[in-house]
Amino acid sequence: MAKRILVLNGPNLNMLGIREPGTYGSRTLADIETMAVDEGAKLGLEVTCRQSNIEGELVTWIQQALGQFDAVIINPGAYSHTSIAIHDAFRAVNLPVVEVHLSNIYTREPFRHHSYVSPVALGVICGLGATGYKLALHALAEKL
Ligand code: DQA
Repeated sequence: MAKRILVLNGPNLNMLGIREPGTYGSRTLADIETMAVDEGAKLGLEVTCRQSNIEGELVTWIQQALGQFDAVIINPGAYSHTSIAIHDAFRAVNLPVVEVHLSNIYTREPFRHHSYVSPVALGVICGLGATGYKLALHALAEKL
């Protein structure tokens, strides 16, 4: 059976394409999600994509991933830097998680240098734009 991967995107990532293209690129979230589904299919992975601007909704989806998905790829957006709730949800379900950021958060403002998700992630990819999601899928295809 194909391994199932949940790809989550957090707040403001629905604005990709319009939002700060110099930082986040010109691809829309729909482009990235299509790319993730196609890349997953090539790797024998079944990819489901969701986006929310609401912290609690992301927490609920992480909880519900237990038994439904084999791993999660998440770009938590600004919640990376603030959300103990998302950190705790990943600890609770104990699923492999790859954290992705389009931009290199370490070359940006100091408040972006800490992520609450990184300590519960299998790996972290940042600064490589939409390619980061592809790399995360490749890593999980090998790992699972
Ligand atoms: C981001 C980086 C975060 O600091 C920011 O709040 C985002 C996007 C990224 O993909 O580079 O919303 O996660």
